[in-house]
Amino acid sequence: MVAEKKGKVVLAYSGGLDTSVAIPWLQDQGYDVIALTMHVGQQADNLEEIKAKALAAGAIKAHVVDLREAFIDAFIWPSLKANALYQGVYPLNSALSRPMIAQAMIWCAEREGAVAVAHGCTGKGQDQVRIEVCCNALNPDIKVLAPVRDWGFTREEEMEYAEAHNIPVPTTRKSPYSFDDNLWGRSIECGVLEDPWNEPPKDAYALTADPKDALDEEVTVEITFEKGIPVAVNGKKMKSFEIVDFLNKTAGKAGYGRIDMVEDRLVGFKSREVYECPGALALIEAHKKLETITLAKEVLKTKKELEVKFAEMTYEGYWFSPLMEAVNAFIASTQQVVNGTVRMKFYKGNGIVNGMKSDDSIYREDLATYSTGDTFDHGASVGFIKIWGMPIKTWRQAHKNENVNPMDHLLAGKTDADF
Ligand code: ARG
Repeated sequence: MVAEKKGKVVLAYSGGLDTSVAIPWLQDQGYDVIALTMHVGQQADNLEEIKAKALAAGAIKAHVVDLREAFIDAFIWPSLKANALYQGVYPLNSALSRPMIAQAMIWCAEREGAVAVAHGCTGKGQDQVRIEVCCNALNPDIKVLAPVRDWGFTREEEMEYAEAHNIPVPTTRKSPYSFDDNLWGRSIECGVLEDPWNEPPKDAYALTADPKDALDEEVTVEITFEKGIPVAVNGKKMKSFEIVDFLNKTAGKAGYGRIDMVEDRLVGFKSREVYECPGALALIEAHKKLETITLAKEVLKTKKELEVKFAEMTYEGYWFSPLMEAVNAFIASTQQVVNGTVRMKFYKGNGIVNGMKSDDSIYREDLATYSTGDTFDHGASVGFIKIWGMPIKTWRQAHKNENVNPMDHLLAGKTDADF
């Protein structure tokens, strides 16, 4: 039976089995499939080969777009400015790429006059939520399809369907883990990792050295920021992509950047996650430190609260939301003064900032010093303490009779000899 013609659909195509099977499957539903392969810095096979594969599977067109610079400029840098770490730990590498992917899917669908977009997520993860919420936020008139969630195939049925449609099935054994990677890091899930008591096996890692086997020398890197964004490493101007790549390699080789956590998923359960994010963690740490000398105390405090909000919205698929826009505007306005250079040392799994300087620094050595050159007004402390402590002193004066000093209790049973 030939399904009624429904129009074009843009499929986010990775070249893997699921999205390859999705091509004939969507055709069976009446769609003409346009494959869209997006490069966000993942360790992908040859992208031209992926394109050929899409066409061989029956796509009417196949596009490959390099989104690396766009991904950094529009998603990674705002996230770095926000020091975004979900639950204080996860730099959101996977979560950040989903709004980028959704944006490219909708853009391609609009250019192609497609009525729908489709992705290869299953019905259990949060990537489906992020992609669909973001697609709808950008163009609610374009339908979002999720073939892998809808088709109800078992693994065997999927293989049979693939063979019947001349789609090559993978001959290598399926990895025991599920991976997702891009410029901002690598996520590793499933298999033995599902028991939080199991130490992640060595073969789970790919970007970072085991700290035990890492180089025996310390590696020092100087990162220069302009308006909250890194622009040079060791005094050398580099493109955004090169900076992230350089730090991924340098810090990763030193065994820095591993994360092992149980995180709270948007879809209601806890999940054990392993990440490798050497470049992301190094840049966030360096950027955070630079902010300590360039931002005012009250700005830092309020920004910290909004950073939590930013990370949650990113994790939960609310990238294209009115609140995100407002939070981003606040964060961007704080970054005008985040200029300067941070020195960071990597050694056997550690990455420690040990120096920073900035022309916009509000750190004043003449105020902080305990040596000569001190300009702090010591005499002014007398009046300051008088007024700062006045409410507490007033309270005690009104409640004089109560025994508030716990020393007697703390020292009960001790004799004079113990003093
Ligand atoms: N737990 C992470 C997140 O939700 C990682 C997701 C990885 N995605 C994947 N398809 N393996 O952001």
